[in-house]
Amino acid sequence: MKVVVTGSRGKVGRATVQALVDAGHDVLGVDLVRPVFDAGVVVPGRYQMADLTDAGSAFSVVAGADAVVHTAAIPQPTGHPPHVVLQTNLMSTFNLVEAAVRFGLRRFVNVSSESIVGNFFPERPFLPDYVPVDEQHPLKPQDPYALSKAFGEQLMDAAVRRSDLRAISIRPSTVHNKDNYESNLGKQVRDPSNLSANFWSYIDADDLADALVLAVESELPGHEVFYIAAPDNAGGHDFAEILHRYYGDQIELRRLNRVDASGISTEKAERLLGWTAKRSWRDYLDADGRALGD
Ligand SMILES: NC(=O)c1ccc[n+]([C@@H]2O[C@H](COP(=O)([O-])OP(=O)(O)OC[C@H]3O[C@@H](n4cnc5c(N)ncnc54)[C@H](O)[C@@H]3O)[C@@H](O)[C@H]2O)c1
Repeated sequence: MKVVVTGSRGKVGRATVQALVDAGHDVLGVDLVRPVFDAGVVVPGRYQMADLTDAGSAFSVVAGADAVVHTAAIPQPTGHPPHVVLQTNLMSTFNLVEAAVRFGLRRFVNVSSESIVGNFFPERPFLPDYVPVDEQHPLKPQDPYALSKAFGEQLMDAAVRRSDLRAISIRPSTVHNKDNYESNLGKQVRDPSNLSANFWSYIDADDLADALVLAVESELPGHEVFYIAAPDNAGGHDFAEILHRYYGDQIELRRLNRVDASGISTEKAERLLGWTAKRSWRDYLDADGRALGD
């Protein structure tokens, strides 16, 4: 398939381009980074620089494609003024979906976020109603980033209502690769009292990329939403025990399918996408959270 990957120079985009190329797809990467002729760096797939908040640019890159994987975004609300976060994320998604509908594409894969539930950047305290969080959990976003993801998913609902486009939204947990496992997860692995907004959940960038490839290739109709997270928590701690230790009885604990479970359920992705995680923090860190040698 001809697949456009937006945000192709970012953490998720780079892994996704590689996974799609490895799976035999014809990939066009799109990002804000200026292309460099003969830079001596081999980046897989074709590439075009475009600011996707510009509708003309979005239409130009989507023309002729079979599918879009939309990873481009400002991935947090803290590094830019709030209106810039909302405007960038919302309008890039709107323009790409509009182009996909008008050009009659069959598949749009929208990278959403676990933070849509309301965690990570709330102005007032937030705890989920229950854990592991799943696709049935109500969405309670507060900040412009989480709101942009909630609106993005609504754009998918509207697109499948008004066209034959099929949409999948993937809500990844926090994403890590070999360069940042230690800096991002080391402390939690060592000591679970380093609380994380997502209850010690995580996902490997290459495992997320596998899910995005499956989403591109999926025949699922309509708009389906999936959480993607590793099945275990960072550190392999006893989930029920640490939840009780740090949160008491504030959050309902639902069925766990392993002792060291994640705070996010991916049963739906396993069932409908055929996805399973193949990588773990244990491939990169020792039990003390230090990077393993090569
Ligand atoms: N990193 C995480 O832990 C995490 C967790 C959940 C969801 N996500 C989502 O995954 C996606 C990718 O995140 P990431 O970690 O790779 O972020 P990143 O910042 O590494 O990559 C995002 C890319 O999007 C590009 N981009 C931003 N605005 C653009 C625009 N207007 N036009 C074209 N390109 C633009 C940036 O230049 C960047 O290369 C985002 O949608 C993010 O919200 C990330």
